[in-house]
Amino acid sequence: MSVKAIDGQFQINTRNSSYIMLVERGYLFHVYWGKKISFGDNSYMNREYDWYSSFSPNLEDGDCGFSLEGRPLEYSGWGRGDFKNPSIEIINPDGSNIVDLKYDSYEIIPGKPELSGLPSSYCEAGDNAETLKITLKDEISNIFVHLYYAVFEDFDVITRWTVVENRSGGTVEIARVMSATVDFDNMRYDVISNFGSWSRERHLERGPVRHGIFETGSRRGASSHTHNPFILLCSHDACETSGDVYGLTLVYSGSYKSIVEGTRYHFTRLNIGINPDGFGWRLSQGETFTSPEVLLSYSSEGINKLSSQYHKMIRKRLCRGKYRDIRRPVIINSWEACYFSFDENKLAEIGDCAAKLGVELLVVDDGWFGRRDGDTSSLGDWKVDRNKLPNGIEGLYKRLEKSGCKLGMWFEPEMISPESELYDKHPDWCVHVEGRPRSLARTQLVLDLSRKDVCDFVYDSVANILKTGMVSYIKWDYNRNICEASSSALPAENAKEFLHRYYLGLYSVLDRLTKDFPDVLFENCSGGGGRFDCGMLAYMPQTWTSDDSDAVERLKIQYGTSIIYPLSTIVGHVSACPNHQTKHVTSFESRLNVALTGSFGYELDPTRLTEEEKEKVRYGAELYKKYGDMLVNGEYYRLRSPFEENCSAWCTVSERRDIAIAVYMRIRMEIEPNPERLILRGLDETAEYKEINSGKIYSGSQLMGFGIPVPGPAAMGEYASKMWIFEKI
Ligand code: DGJ
Repeated sequence: MSVKAIDGQFQINTRNSSYIMLVERGYLFHVYWGKKISFGDNSYMNREYDWYSSFSPNLEDGDCGFSLEGRPLEYSGWGRGDFKNPSIEIINPDGSNIVDLKYDSYEIIPGKPELSGLPSSYCEAGDNAETLKITLKDEISNIFVHLYYAVFEDFDVITRWTVVENRSGGTVEIARVMSATVDFDNMRYDVISNFGSWSRERHLERGPVRHGIFETGSRRGASSHTHNPFILLCSHDACETSGDVYGLTLVYSGSYKSIVEGTRYHFTRLNIGINPDGFGWRLSQGETFTSPEVLLSYSSEGINKLSSQYHKMIRKRLCRGKYRDIRRPVIINSWEACYFSFDENKLAEIGDCAAKLGVELLVVDDGWFGRRDGDTSSLGDWKVDRNKLPNGIEGLYKRLEKSGCKLGMWFEPEMISPESELYDKHPDWCVHVEGRPRSLARTQLVLDLSRKDVCDFVYDSVANILKTGMVSYIKWDYNRNICEASSSALPAENAKEFLHRYYLGLYSVLDRLTKDFPDVLFENCSGGGGRFDCGMLAYMPQTWTSDDSDAVERLKIQYGTSIIYPLSTIVGHVSACPNHQTKHVTSFESRLNVALTGSFGYELDPTRLTEEEKEKVRYGAELYKKYGDMLVNGEYYRLRSPFEENCSAWCTVSERRDIAIAVYMRIRMEIEPNPERLILRGLDETAEYKEINSGKIYSGSQLMGFGIPVPGPAAMGEYASKMWIFEKI
């Protein structure tokens, strides 16, 4: 049993955490989230506050001790004197926007219900999963708010979402609906957030909670490169291996907001959900609105433990399909090898050469369709360019098949180029506002996926190619953000629904495609990691992490990504040297060591490599084939942070702790540095391990105590790295 509900007390227990709510005077208060507490009478946790000024309105006459502002609420309605940033705001038929949510009822549902139209986590037979549904009600407007808590006991994760139900008899407009609010009764925390840009995703930042609001999010119509939809709160002393850490991660790919507020009474309020800026949703009598899901997790043993909980949950209960638990094919991608200049011969040559080195699949990136010789045209015209591929996909497929290489194709299905046959035919299919200019980005517009006919077109564009049975991998790209966010097909009063409707449309297309083509491996991409989020991962088990393929820049990008996302979702490619984005010159070893993630490949022209380099390509492919399953399913430990030191280091340990792969990379050259040793984590301390390249034997306790000596800068200079592979004897 993971949920106890009795006499207005609700307690949710996972393996190592508890989450407690209490009803008092009709309101639902949040009183605790943290280390596990055994089930018991928690009524003493609801504390009376005796210090309110008249500026915090009392809800009961003559009683100065009952103000919502001075209480940690579970879900806060706008307008009843809780002046902290609210969870929900609804415009009632009379124009008022008050939502006074009182406790109504609860229900415990075995397992976990699906979220209507939205991506979500799921449980499997044998999971200790159950769902608590608490219903709150505004007695005057007759609006019901259902708070859902799905408990994944063994994963130490609780997922939350909110359903608004209109029983008012009229039509209301939801102006704001957060997926989850969590109040903490003090401010003694740090916030760990992330920021980035194209090619510099998910850099970490940390600072104390202060009075006032700190918010991250996106108004870009995509979760975006700028801030990934996760936020962490931790004790001031928390580090990778100790301290209290709380995480919230949204299962959504559109505009969102996460807010951390230090309040007047020194509480901390966290809010996460659809970005209310520009959002509105009309709800008629009898209708419901479902918010995206949030994954909540708590660790009393530091940030790495929290990551590990998220990694297992995302890998096993959010990602789906045939590739979920297995290594992916070793791929070679044509983008950095050829950009837009290729033809059938060139691709067949690359595929043949790569296959001889152990590569299993060639991805034909941008440029194979319409008249796409640059990024200014043809998006939407998903017909093969016969100038480049005179024998169509079939011709290339047959040549690759002879080499033993499978075929993957790049698409950017959500986009339309003004210079395209599709635009000539359907100029109203793009996102736009009638009478206003249509802003271009990368010379393209976005298709209006709030429309069913456009969604059907997008489905058919990809499905028609997949139906040939020749394509076993799709790279799904998305290279701009949305402005003039509106649909010519939506009535004026529903205009603010557009961005969310866009995602409902996209998710319906992805749901159909991934169910109709279960054997195809879909890779998510948005100019690299501009939509690396749990929403997309529910359909596609991996994401092109960043367009920056440079081993040095990737250290921070992958470190930040690994806070929430498992190695199985992170795609790494070895690219050419000097690097195309940064011009950094790095050794093949460093590029390989950093790229060896849960999904591995190459992004270069193998026909231009020396024999010695080709051998290294072969070695990388073999390494991934041998250890790929263990990288996908292993425990990932961050050992040294590139945000704090002149190096980065990590190790992955197999589930049975019989194999460990550790990597250390030095960043800048240092003069007379400290002689380094790398201390591993996660091994079996009673076991002995052999490092397979040197043949040396170490005990688990040695590797986790003294550690392994790192070669000095004379042997291993700037941007140099070392990988050790330990196997249990
Ligand atoms: C952006 C992607 O991230 C790249 O890998 C490549 O596919 C280009 N788009 C193609 O236009």
